[in-house]
Amino acid sequence: MNNDIEKVLFDQTQLDKRMDEMADELNQKYADKQPIIIPVLNGAMIFASDMIKRLNFKLTIDPIKASSYAGAESTGKVKITQDIKSDVKDQPVIFMEDIIDTGRTLQALSEVMKDRGAASVEVVAMLDKPTTRVVDFHADYYGFQAPDAFLVGYGLDYNGLYRNLPYVGILKRKIYA
Ligand code: IMP
Ligand code: MG
Repeated sequence: MNNDIEKVLFDQTQLDKRMDEMADELNQKYADKQPIIIPVLNGAMIFASDMIKRLNFKLTIDPIKASSYAGAESTGKVKITQDIKSDVKDQPVIFMEDIIDTGRTLQALSEVMKDRGAASVEVVAMLDKPTTRVVDFHADYYGFQAPDAFLVGYGLDYNGLYRNLPYVGILKRKIYA
C-alpha cells in the first residue's frame, strides 16, 4: 500500500499538532454550547474521531453520508445518502470533513442545516484545496492547505482504499490514470 504513494504531505505528528491547535479554538468557542457534531462519512471518520477526542465540552455526534465523487473525478452532484437523526432546529452544528475540494459538498450540506433552522453552522476540515474550488465556500477551520493533487490517507480514499494510512499523501498517478 505504501508503495502506491508518491509523497507524504502531512504525517501523524503534523496532523496531531494542527488538531491540537484547532481543538483549542473550538474548546474556547463551544465551551457552553453543546453542539451537534456531524462527521461527513466515510472520509471524515479518522479525522473526526481524532478531533472529537480533543474537545472538552458537551457535544453529540450524528454522522451524515453524502456523495459527490466517483473515482478521481467529481460528479458535481451532492446527495445525502444517509441523513442525521437529530433535530438541528436552534442547535449549533459543526460539520467535520476530510477535505474541501470544489466546495460543493459542504456548501450544500451547510445550506440543508440552515434550512432546517440550525442556530449556527460551522465547518472543520482537515484539508482545504483552494485551487480547485468551484463555489464560494470556505471552511471555518482547516488543518492544512493542500495542493491540486489526488490525495489519500487519514480517511481520504481512492475507490475505498488507503483510508487507513496514518498520513496524508499524494497517490501515484499510475494508480488512477
Ligand atoms: P467537494 O464537494 O468537491 O468539496 O468534495 C469533497 C469530497 O471530495 C471530500 O469529502 C472527499 O471525499 C472528496 N475528495 C476531494 N478531493 C479528494 C482527494 O484528493 N482525495 C480523495 N478524496 C477527495
Ligand atoms: Mg468525503
